[in-house]
Amino acid sequence: MIAKETLLQQLPQDLDRARLPQHVAVIMDGNGRWAQRQGLPRIIGHRRGVDVLKDILRCCKDWGIGALTAYAFSSENWGRPLEEVNFLMTLFERVLRQELNEMIAENVRIRFLGNLSALPESLQKEINRSMEATRDNRDVRFSVATNYGGRQEIVQACRAIAEQVKNGSIEPEQIDESLFARHLYTSDVGDPDLLIRTSGEMRISNFLLWQVAYSELYVTNTLWPDFDRQEFRSAIGAYQKRNRRFGKL
Ligand code: FPP
Repeated sequence: MIAKETLLQQLPQDLDRARLPQHVAVIMDGNGRWAQRQGLPRIIGHRRGVDVLKDILRCCKDWGIGALTAYAFSSENWGRPLEEVNFLMTLFERVLRQELNEMIAENVRIRFLGNLSALPESLQKEINRSMEATRDNRDVRFSVATNYGGRQEIVQACRAIAEQVKNGSIEPEQIDESLFARHLYTSDVGDPDLLIRTSGEMRISNFLLWQVAYSELYVTNTLWPDFDRQEFRSAIGAYQKRNRRFGKL
């Protein structure tokens, strides 16, 4: 039997190559519930969630989608039980170590968005190593939001700009949307065209607050561990039916 993934290795014919979203963001919700529904510990859901993310990243490469941004750990997630937080930190580190060669081979550039200085040092080391080793890769720009909060991102941008005004390198009149966007973590990937959220919740949850101003939203009831290429195709199909007006007529 051919695996489901193999069937959708190429861009499905019902999708229009010329109108693919160039940047997709995902809120990967539902790992814990997926595991609990099967009587398994929540961490099993996170493990499975990594496999799904890997396949969606590969799918972006296969279909020609140039940027993927995933919400892996929000600044509010520190409030989870210590055991789960520790598991996630160790998981991120292990994934980076295991997948680095594959990312290099697949021409994927990985970056991390968020307040990285609060992460365990050994994880920061892996993060820096993987960002450095893939910095010139161009096929897919993969961003992982880790210890990320949208409001915090905006506040740190304000601070950096205020410093520049204070030291006289810019005038307040020079602050406009494009200058502001250059101070966000996403300065080199820009705004997502499509934001996908799994597990049915209709919330942005402090993710890319500035950047999603005109993104198309797609919410599915599917839990992240069950999300697959078929679902990704549906999300992109729905996106291609939308009429993006950016506030105009
Ligand atoms: C939310 O499920 C999902 C997470 C906390 C993300 C876990 C991270 C990954 C799957 C990817 C890590 C990737 C890299 C490259 C380091 P939840 O626990 O909120 O589920 P629930 O809503 O059912 O409780």
